[in-house]
Amino acid sequence: MLRWFRRIWVRGSAAVVLEIRNLTVDYGAVRALDQVTLSAREGTVTAVLGANGAGKTTLLRTISGLVKPTAGSIVFVGREISGRPAEDIARLGLGHVPEGQGVILELTVEENLRLGGLIAPGGSRERRATADRVYALFPALVECRDRLASTLSGGERRMLVIGRALMGGPRALVLDEPSLGLAPLVVAQLLASVRQLRDESGYTVVLAEQNARSALAIADRSVVLDLGRVVLDADAATLAADEQLMDRLRRAYLGF
Ligand SMILES: Nc1ncnc2c1ncn2[C@@H]1O[C@H](COP(=O)(O)OP(=O)(O)O)[C@@H](O)[C@H]1O
Ligand SMILES: [Mg+2]
Repeated sequence: MLRWFRRIWVRGSAAVVLEIRNLTVDYGAVRALDQVTLSAREGTVTAVLGANGAGKTTLLRTISGLVKPTAGSIVFVGREISGRPAEDIARLGLGHVPEGQGVILELTVEENLRLGGLIAPGGSRERRATADRVYALFPALVECRDRLASTLSGGERRMLVIGRALMGGPRALVLDEPSLGLAPLVVAQLLASVRQLRDESGYTVVLAEQNARSALAIADRSVVLDLGRVVLDADAATLAADEQLMDRLRRAYLGF
């Protein structure tokens, strides 16, 4: 019941947490993002779809302050963050989960999580509580908490990277292709956890994916990027249900 109410509220009037306007990013002579505009409401998942090279990673890294934009504005929780240092943006509550399996292989699962908690405000008791919530979200990590990250499977490493970002106590997460290279069953589990983060804890998530079907299944909104431009901004359920449009998108922009 409660969840049902929340969903209605989210769709209706939740605050805009992230507002991007006319964002342009150049790598030397290469224009990677061209006047990208999008906004994300609190407690929603926005899927950023697009083929390899479309600009998904650049968009996420620019939001997080890891790439400096050429022009445009990014407002996060009411503050202009465009061009600000990544540490400041993280402190405002943005968690960045990079592409790949960027865990520290020589540390245990528990140590990797503790590292993620270093930037979190609050004391050790709060950190322990956050770690417990991460283990509840990813039960597979419980059994391997004292194992070196190097012994984890691809899916477990991806869970650990997300868990590490959660340890920083963010209210929004940007996730860069979490499903890349994983088996379909593991992708489904991982994206179900992302859905759970939104539904049970109200996280705002920006999810870059090439895997359009899987991403749309959990997303509220979807933007499609092509050569750094937004070519479609639509309600995710409406888009997923439109077979013809999905087919055209797949052929024109998604590269499969
Ligand atoms: N560090 C970089 N230097 C120069 N060009 C880059 C760099 N990173 C990405 N690009 C280029 O920017 C464009 C967008 O890349 P990227 O954001 O990685 O897309 P995606 O994540 O959708 O695959 C591509 O043309 C890519 O080659
Ligand atoms: Mg990428």
